[in-house]
Amino acid sequence: MQKLTGIILAGGLGTRLLPLTKITNKHLLPVFNKPMIFYPIEKIAASGIEELIIVVGDKSAGDFIRLLGNGRDFGLKNIFYIYQEGEKGIAHALGLCENSIRGEKIIVVLGDNLFSDDLTKQTQIFLKQKAGARILLKKVNTPERFGVPEIKDGKILKITEKPSVPDSDYAVTGIYMYHRDVFSVIKKLKPSERGEIEITEVNNKYIFEGALTHGYLRGWWTDAGTIESYSRAWDYVRKEQKRQ
Ligand code: DAU
Repeated sequence: MQKLTGIILAGGLGTRLLPLTKITNKHLLPVFNKPMIFYPIEKIAASGIEELIIVVGDKSAGDFIRLLGNGRDFGLKNIFYIYQEGEKGIAHALGLCENSIRGEKIIVVLGDNLFSDDLTKQTQIFLKQKAGARILLKKVNTPERFGVPEIKDGKILKITEKPSVPDSDYAVTGIYMYHRDVFSVIKKLKPSERGEIEITEVNNKYIFEGALTHGYLRGWWTDAGTIESYSRAWDYVRKEQKRQ
């Protein structure tokens, strides 16, 4: 069976968590008893993926290698590291991975996304999908902080990034699956007003072509990019570990 290549994006500057991120990278901060980036890596490894690419940024780049090494401790065959200069956007960070991917399909997880669902079922669905992309949604209380889908008759009509008036109470989570044609989509995009190549624009291109499918996360999910959500991530993990 064909396997997905995993990609975790851990670049960016993490300015919303200052001063916690003044001397270290957001994804290396603790969440309960582990560094933040362990959580998405463990989810990727648990879904049977063997090869992982991690995009790191300007801050503490070398510390990722010291912490994660070749990935064997997580059950991975290998980790490849890619360096992103500056904060040019999620889709820009993904675009840097093009020449390091051997297979046809990838799963991208944002390094500050923590969640309880196992990804195996969703990745199996995507492996059977002939072309295009697949995203995962989660109902949230504050959709205006995220990419928000407009959904009609079970179909996504469009996604708006951080809308002031959200079209639904769903967030597009930072878990994305793409065919490798995503790299040609990214190359055609221009930076947005905030100077970033936006992943939401990538997903809207797939919607336009009728090639975006979606699923839903059933368990808890949060990002950890603001002090509120970072603190929520601690609560979720603490509760989950107590249950276990
Ligand atoms: O968490 C889900 C949300 O993530 C989505 O709903 C949004 O549509 C998506 O744009 C994104 O929104 P954020 O504003 O939360 O993204 P942020 O800039 O915080 O970046 C999230 C992660 O992406 C970050 O932890 C590391 C990675 N990243 C980000 C940028 C801007 C990079 O690797 N390089 C970058 O240049």
